[in-house]
Amino acid sequence: MSNSTWWASESFWRKTAIWVTAFMLVVLILLTFDTVKKITAGHSKVPAYSVINNRIYYKYDKEEEHYMPIIGAEAPLFGKKLTEQEAKDLVSLGKMTTQAKNCMNCHTLLGNGAYYAPDLTKAWLDQGWAAESVREDLMIKFLMNPDKNPRGYGSKRKMPNLGITEEEARGVVAFLKWMSSIDTNGFPNKFRSIPQEGDNDY
Ligand code: HEC
Repeated sequence: MSNSTWWASESFWRKTAIWVTAFMLVVLILLTFDTVKKITAGHSKVPAYSVINNRIYYKYDKEEEHYMPIIGAEAPLFGKKLTEQEAKDLVSLGKMTTQAKNCMNCHTLLGNGAYYAPDLTKAWLDQGWAAESVREDLMIKFLMNPDKNPRGYGSKRKMPNLGITEEEARGVVAFLKWMSSIDTNGFPNKFRSIPQEGDNDY
């Protein structure tokens, strides 16, 4: 051992392993904080909950080569402008409802879940809602009685009645509207949005 060079010694490699592990641990902690900041509501890619007070639309970004959610003029959900806290409470109610009713058993949300039914990430902007002016009411009606208001996405699959109350349905709509404002880098791919005013892409 005494004859070997320093870089081939066991103690050098032991120390190196400890230092590298300790350094990477610090990097991991810093990256975790950085990521948490980016995925918290209120960041440029994940808007604050009060975004449900505004019109959200979709525009093709030629540089990014995918559709981007755009936050437009004031257009309060259910015609009532909410404070940040009220918006957070309503979106939370919707999120809790999607968890309690296990929507992911059939749908994907931000890519997570099952493939039986359409992805819900941009459901707020889905072409299925006919027109922006009637969308909120149609969504509530559908969520409370999906079996009686089938949307028919070219399949015979029907969403079962999950016993969602009107209040919960309002929360779900708020949650879906908020989720549609998240910049998901073009996910879901090939999603076709409800016709957009002044947009020639449709
Ligand atoms: C058992 C499977 C199943 C579960 C659970 C389920 N869904 Fe669905 N959902 C469907 C099917 C199937 C469709 C397509 C229905 C149609 O075309 O009528 C659908 C359609 C939808 C749509 C319309 C999608 C769009 O892009 O316009 C929304 C919104 C929706 N579901 C929300 C929910 C929410 C919120 C939950 C949980 C509270 C939920 N679903 C739970 C099967 C399910």
